[in-house]
Formats: sequence, C-alpha cells, structure tokens
Amino acid sequence: MKYLIFSDIHSNLEAFNVFLKKARSLKPDAFVFLGDAVGYGANPNEVMETLASLPNLVAVMGNHDKVALGLDTTMLFNPVAAEALNWTRKKLSPFSIQFLKTFKRGPLRLRDGICICHGAPFDEDHYIFTPAEALEAIEFSGERICFFGHTHVPAIYEFPPEKDAVAIYHPLEQGNTPVKLKKEFFYAINPGSIGQPRDRNPRGTFLIYDDKKNQVKFYRFSYPAEKAKEKIINQGLPEVLGERLLEGY
Ligand SMILES: [Fe+2]
Repeated sequence: MKYLIFSDIHSNLEAFNVFLKKARSLKPDAFVFLGDAVGYGANPNEVMETLASLPNLVAVMGNHDKVALGLDTTMLFNPVAAEALNWTRKKLSPFSIQFLKTFKRGPLRLRDGICICHGAPFDEDHYIFTPAEALEAIEFSGERICFFGHTHVPAIYEFPPEKDAVAIYHPLEQGNTPVKLKKEFFYAINPGSIGQPRDRNPRGTFLIYDDKKNQVKFYRFSYPAEKAKEKIINQGLPEVLGERLLEGY
C-alpha cells in the first residue's frame, strides 16, 4: 500500500495546488495528513474545500487547527502566529469549521506498527528536533514507525533494534532518493511542510511510504511563493509571514 504523507499546509493555496497535481500523479492508495491545515496563510477556506475532496483521507488536528476551532487558546503562540489565527477564526466558513471538526485528535494508530501525530505522541504540541525526542516518541507510541509533523523540517530518525544508536537523514535538494527502511529498526519520520517549509529551502515537501517496498521517498516541489506572499500582505496579515515563504524559514 502506498501512503502519501503530508503536513502543515497552513492555508497556502498556491503550494497546495502544486502539491495536489504532483500527489495525484503518484496515485497513492491513501492520503495521510498530519495537521495544521490552516493558520499563517491567506486561503483557509479554499484549502479546506480542496482538502475535503481527497479520497481516502486520514487527518489529525494540528495546534493551529485546534485554536482555529476554539478548542485551544493562542497562549503558547508567538504574536505573529496568534494574529494570523485570530484572522483565520474570523474567516473560516461553516463548511471549513465542520470539516476541520472531523480531524482526529492525535496520536493515532494508522495501522499495525504505524503511529501518526502532529507534534509528538506524548504531547501533540511538542516539537521533535532531537534524537532523544524522536526516541521518546517511538517508545511512547509503542509502534515501529512514527510519522510526525509540526516542525516543518523533513527528517528521518533511524534507530537499530537495541535503540542504542541513531542515524539522521535530512532530505534537501536530493529529496527524491528513496530510503529503504530496515527490518526490526525503529523510525520517527517527518514529511516536512507543504505550505511553510522551514529548512532554509522554500520548496514544499511530502513523502510516500510504500509498505510493500518498505521504503520512504521524499518529494520537493517549487510553487509560486511570491503570489502566496502577496496575498498574505493584501489580507493585512503580518508581512513576515509572506517573506519567510521566499526563504524557507
Ligand atoms: Fe505547523
């Protein structure tokens, strides 16, 4: 089975449209979304309508999605993110709210051996940036593979059966090289972000996990980031939210 795993769209319709074209051409069996459909960008409703059209979609809620629904507050958010979320809450259509409410609370068992979440299985608002955090995520989940989002940085953390070492892959320009997953090893894997990449590369990222081949393959795509930036500014959202799209931070 081919799972297309993607995360952190953040209301960026320009990026989402380019992603979708590529994603459909890869003919996955299921779409797995790791959260943060909205927040930051200028097109929350258009993104939600398009996301709802994807077949076989499993989606978990991101921290921005929770605040957009009023399930959480902006207390832990920086002022720029909070401003964009207040704007988003006013903009969300009844359809978007209704669809957002169908997202599952992570962590979630996708199937035997696979956990999906937004931040970390032990705390959905936690950022996994270190091998220790990646290992904690795997151990807490009780599964062999844990897919997570939230950091907007594509990465694979690989642990041997004894969990006494770690190998880390950060797919950058060479995003298309498949990584073979070893039997009995443990993995924490982040597909990166569709709409706000933060690894100093402005191109969006996602991945395909093929459980027959037992491999993960990352994809990177360029999109009209300048247009997404203009829309952000035209909506009166903080300018930095547009600027960062051009640099990938
Ligand atoms: Fe995010």
